[in-house]
Amino acid sequence: MSNHRPIGIFDSGLGGLTVAKEIYRLLPNESTIYIGDTARVPYGNRSREAVTQFTQELIDALLTLDVKAVVIACGTASSVALPNLQDAYKQIPIIGVIEPAAENAVSVTTSNHIGVIGTQATIASNSFGNFIKKSNPHIEIHNQSCPLFVPIVEEGIINDHPILLEAIKHYLNKLQQTQIDTLILGCTHYPIISHAIADYLPGVNLINAGVSVAQELNHLLINNHIENTSAKSPRHRYFVTDINQNFEEVAQTFLGKQISIEKIAI
Ligand code: DGL
Repeated sequence: MSNHRPIGIFDSGLGGLTVAKEIYRLLPNESTIYIGDTARVPYGNRSREAVTQFTQELIDALLTLDVKAVVIACGTASSVALPNLQDAYKQIPIIGVIEPAAENAVSVTTSNHIGVIGTQATIASNSFGNFIKKSNPHIEIHNQSCPLFVPIVEEGIINDHPILLEAIKHYLNKLQQTQIDTLILGCTHYPIISHAIADYLPGVNLINAGVSVAQELNHLLINNHIENTSAKSPRHRYFVTDINQNFEEVAQTFLGKQISIEKIAI
């Protein structure tokens, strides 16, 4: 039987839309509900306790909206909160971005040097590195936190603006001197600026977690017999915890379509 309930997706802000976009592409029958926690973005410099509390509140909000699965489309929440929460939410399938992106990176590297960029919390947790090492202990990990990238994207500075180019140079110049052939965009905001990152690191494979997350979600829906097989037009709703104009503008540019946002109280 076809399951029409939506998939819940959330992030601290705009970043999770990079995952949502890949889900729309791979699973065109599925309806979704997106929440951007714009009132509390960024998460990346907050404590584990705070990120875990926010994550719990967002999952609860999505459950109230009757979602059939939850995608934690945030590298930070996936790194520091998901491992503690999975047991608490056994009633619903939940996936994060770490394992799918790490697996993808392991499968494409040939130099066995993988770079990981993310928020301070994600890099401090070494979540990607731990997973990669388990899968292949010979791979060398080159971690770099890029705390300014999230506020830059949230501000809508996403074209080749000098502020963005300067931040990229500032954070990525050390990686330029390594043998990495693969770079995990370990924060879901980063695919929005991947054109500029690619220009700075030519020839390096950039791993957008959204692509692998959408594939993993597909398997999860099929395995749990909750996929929507009917080709009726899906509905995509967008909630934020604080309305700001940037969100709508950047989201529309990135998704290439008009959206309307609704406010949700968490
Ligand atoms: N998109 C979130 C991530 O993937 C951004 C975290 C933040 O708000 O700092 O980590």
